[in-house]
Amino acid sequence: MIALTLAEVAEAVGAALPHAAEGTVTGVTLDSRTVGAGDLFVAVAGERVDGHDFLDAAAAAGAVAALTTRPGGPLPALVVDDAVAALGRLAAAVHARLAERGLFTLGITGSSGKTSTKDLLGQVLAAAGPTVSPPGSFNNDIGLPLTVLSADETTRYLVLEMGARGVGHIARLCAVARPDVGVVLNVGSAHLGEFGSADGIALAKGELVEALPESGTAVLNADDPRVLGMAPRTRARVVTTGRSEGADVRATGVTLDDAARARFTLAAAGEEHPVALRVVGEHQVANALSAAGAALAAGMTPAAVAAALSAAEPRSRWRMEVTRRADGVTVVNDAYNANPESMRAALAALAGLPATRRVAVLGGMAELGPDADAEHERLGRDAVAAGVDLLVAVGADAVGMVAGATAAGAHQGEGHGTSVGGTRVVSVPDRAAALDQLSEVLVPGDVVLVKASRSHGLEVVADGLLADAGAAAGLAADGGPAGAGA
Ligand SMILES: Nc1ncnc2c1ncn2[C@@H]1O[C@H](COP(=O)(O)OP(=O)(O)OP(=O)(O)O)[C@@H](O)[C@H]1O
Ligand SMILES: [Mg+2]
Repeated sequence: MIALTLAEVAEAVGAALPHAAEGTVTGVTLDSRTVGAGDLFVAVAGERVDGHDFLDAAAAAGAVAALTTRPGGPLPALVVDDAVAALGRLAAAVHARLAERGLFTLGITGSSGKTSTKDLLGQVLAAAGPTVSPPGSFNNDIGLPLTVLSADETTRYLVLEMGARGVGHIARLCAVARPDVGVVLNVGSAHLGEFGSADGIALAKGELVEALPESGTAVLNADDPRVLGMAPRTRARVVTTGRSEGADVRATGVTLDDAARARFTLAAAGEEHPVALRVVGEHQVANALSAAGAALAAGMTPAAVAAALSAAEPRSRWRMEVTRRADGVTVVNDAYNANPESMRAALAALAGLPATRRVAVLGGMAELGPDADAEHERLGRDAVAAGVDLLVAVGADAVGMVAGATAAGAHQGEGHGTSVGGTRVVSVPDRAAALDQLSEVLVPGDVVLVKASRSHGLEVVADGLLADAGAAAGLAADGGPAGAGA
């Protein structure tokens, strides 16, 4: 972060400067455990903990001041009505300053693949200049300002993930850091419950291209009609990406290698260059094209973009992490999150991996609103159609999958040994039961996909599959979803 005086911070957030307070802020954190000397500690009341209870710890760790909603405590307090909104104002002030000095900002939104695309784009741009694009999914009113604040005078490219749970959210994030390039990946059914309809989601995601300046670039996925339909909503230049013939940035000749990693020819600006991705799943082609469109808009050449895409590694945890156990069982941990589209993408990737048997350990998909039952049933049918040999539906939210799979011809029941053809489906109550079931049936050559919405914490199952027997047994006592709400 750029160093700011306490007076500058107070002005940016709109708080009174406490009497005689002075100092320099060189970092911002909400987590008392990560406070370092020179930090501004932002005290936010969360669901589980209230940051105001940690003011002493923050002071002891060297914080220079606190951004709080009530006076008092050991640190100079910048008191505001809403600490999260104030954090956004601070990030906006810093962003405006850096943008004036030439910082180039790229925003990414979409229902699925934001983090994956951000990770690709961050690595591609890093080949052209100093880039801020932290691993993980910092896409909300807290994560985005913190990402902005982690940039400094040396940063040339800032890559921001932008999430939305309602209309107006992306516009608010763009007010913190107006992007020069806006990338829209897709309009699916993530958070459909909150939005009500796919058109509602398109309305919200399109706020990104509405926020772009005339000199900016909207990078739109030509393969998604709702995304392409956003073109009239921007003043910026439009660049289209995808497999569609008319797309400005295209992939042709897509093939998958035996680890389900895509190879294709990147066609852009009249040039063609080979790309061999290191990330898993055909869905990464769309993400790579979106990243390519954005990197080209930032001034990179097609050749440099193709080379950097081919060198980009997986960076954020629990997204198509493929690990082979010593006994020859392969675990695909895609447990970070799930919605109908990302489930289908993961099933397609599973189908592309060489395996004696394919096992899908799937939990519920949250926030689908009234469509939830139908979507879980459909997923059960999709698993059968994708050639899954064993479907393990974990938890009460997933039982609809069993009905769908059975309707599509799957056999119910536990059974042992290798498949005799067709899909077998079993329902287990929780993660520990899933691990028990799997420990009985897995044999060398099996490939196991593990995926559910974040709140189900199914990475615990993937970890259990990879851990030794002792660690796996310890999980049986772990009732709550690990990492829920992260
Ligand atoms: N382009 C895509 N189309 C469909 N599914 C995708 C795509 N890219 C990634 N996925 C799937 O979605 C999952 C989540 O990917 P990622 O974390 O990149 O998405 P996100 O949009 O950042 O999600 P979140 O809203 O949780 O932040 C991946 O594990 C993968 O299964
Ligand atoms: Mg994300």
